[in-house]
Amino acid sequence: MKKIVILASGNGTNFEAICKYFSKSSKTSIIKLITDNKKAYVIERAKGLGIDYEIIDYSSFKSKKEYNDYLFDRLKDLDFDLMVLAGYMRILPGYIVRYYADKIINIHPSLLPKYPGLRSIERAYNNKEEYTGITIHYVEEEVDTGKIILQKKLKVDKNWDLEKLEEEIHKLEHQYYPQVIENLLSNSDEYS
Ligand code: GAR
Repeated sequence: MKKIVILASGNGTNFEAICKYFSKSSKTSIIKLITDNKKAYVIERAKGLGIDYEIIDYSSFKSKKEYNDYLFDRLKDLDFDLMVLAGYMRILPGYIVRYYADKIINIHPSLLPKYPGLRSIERAYNNKEEYTGITIHYVEEEVDTGKIILQKKLKVDKNWDLEKLEEEIHKLEHQYYPQVIENLLSNSDEYS
């Protein structure tokens, strides 16, 4: 059985899509959700789906370093094959990224290297991009960099408003993120 831990900070639609995709799998299990945000809606989703969760509330730590050190300790207590960032809005420090080299993946709502960082969908929309899309990539020390595993392009219909574009981006994310996870876990010896 391959084990996944998911880190998320917000709404959690990707978290839910991944959990549902693997809900009947005998090969893959979501062992835990970790969130840095005690108010995140993803917590309600975890409760509803019956997934174990842990809140490591960023605001209760004195410093970023204390938070990251604690997160690292908690991760080391877990036995997992893949760490999946699904709307985790903090930057993992270099020592965590290096410790789990090639075991952490992220999804980003743009065609990286375009529009890294925040509000990527909105910025692409405001710039009237003809195409935008999603990127799934390994996590490296720099934000929104790392070897790209999959990109999916989306043609932006001129009649779409921002909300519609966001909806179409999320649909792509929910369709491809679980599949990529499944492929990574089944194809790679390093995960066995
Ligand atoms: C997703 O669109 C994801 O690509 C993005 O946050 C959203 C989370 O949505 N991630 C980033 O921007 C990372 N840089 P969700 O909470 O509904 O899954």
